Amino acid sequence: MNSDRVQVLSLGEMADVERQLEPTFEVHRATGADIDGLVARHGPAIRAVSTRGRDRLDAALLARLPSLEIIANFGVGYDSIDLDAAARRGIVVTNTPDVLNDEVADFAVALLLATVRRLPQADRFVRAGRWLQGNFPLGPTLRDRTVGLVGMGRIGKRIAQRLSAFEVPIVYHSRTARPDVPYRHYPDLLAMAKDVDTLLAILPGGPATKGLIDAAVLAALGPDGILINVARGSVVDEPALVEALRSETILAAGLDVFADEPRVPQPLLELDNVVLLPHVGSATRHTRGLMGRLVVDNLLSWFEGRGPLTPVPETPWPRRA
Ligand code: NAP
Ligand code: 8YV
Repeated sequence: MNSDRVQVLSLGEMADVERQLEPTFEVHRATGADIDGLVARHGPAIRAVSTRGRDRLDAALLARLPSLEIIANFGVGYDSIDLDAAARRGIVVTNTPDVLNDEVADFAVALLLATVRRLPQADRFVRAGRWLQGNFPLGPTLRDRTVGLVGMGRIGKRIAQRLSAFEVPIVYHSRTARPDVPYRHYPDLLAMAKDVDTLLAILPGGPATKGLIDAAVLAALGPDGILINVARGSVVDEPALVEALRSETILAAGLDVFADEPRVPQPLLELDNVVLLPHVGSATRHTRGLMGRLVVDNLLSWFEGRGPLTPVPETPWPRRA
């Protein structure tokens, strides 16, 4: 092993990324290993972390990596990283924006349709042989719905473009209005929830959005209400959502993300009015390949002295004079 090579700690299942890093870097794979022991042995020498975002990169872990220069996040959302702690140390953080927009937008629309038209439930009905006893019950429709997007960023915009083809009215909530989209902006989420029956969350996780979609927002959606979450589990008050589904305060939900992945609350597993998916919004070979390549390219670019390719807005780059 050539100890002159830059040492990278790889957190999470990213075999493809690791394969691409190995010709240039000395890669310490955390998958299946004791992370604590790995950090104890190699922490002082590690100059880069690539992470899938499942393990928290908090101040305590960063403190054990005194030579760290860059964190390359495999994913556009980087809420698992303590950005303040990273910024205090001048550590650059990169993510993988844009390359997954279309994949995640296709998926969000698919999850919306699956939830409204109860496709997983109908599949289970056929497999259980229940069709032989009678027809699948009539269900809800996308017709006459109004969709409120929570978030109108890179991915939200692509979702809205796709939904336009379904001829449903679209509105959105975000902190700032976007002049480049034709949809009504609501600065207040509760006000939007009162005016729509379908919410689709596609915004970042983290402290600023924690529990944003709470019991009051769900109640405002009403008994025909449908919540689709392809953002982060943390943006929804999960116990309030369970209660809203159980009491039929809202009609249904479609969830790709959860507060404590991969653990899904037992009550959700038992409810029939929710579609549950294992965080697979970007999970195609094509798109995960592009995301992985961008992780690798960010690290190569940084260590070749060309700076990061896709630094997150909060990162201390370019360095101030
Ligand atoms: P983006 O371009 O940064 O857009 C984020 C949107 O959220 C913007 O419209 C932003 O508008 C809004 N927003 C941010 N903070 C907010 C707050 N506190 N309150 C209300 N709105 C807020 O991000 P993106 O590329 O579209 O990705 C969005 C998120 O989707 C990611 O961060 C990730 O968590 C999630 N995601 C999930 C999957 C999956 O597999 N399920 C895949 C990809 C992405 P303002 O700044 O004006 O508020
Ligand atoms: C990734 C995501 O699958 O990009 C994101 O923010 O949530 C997904 O695309 C995830 O980050 C990798 O585990």
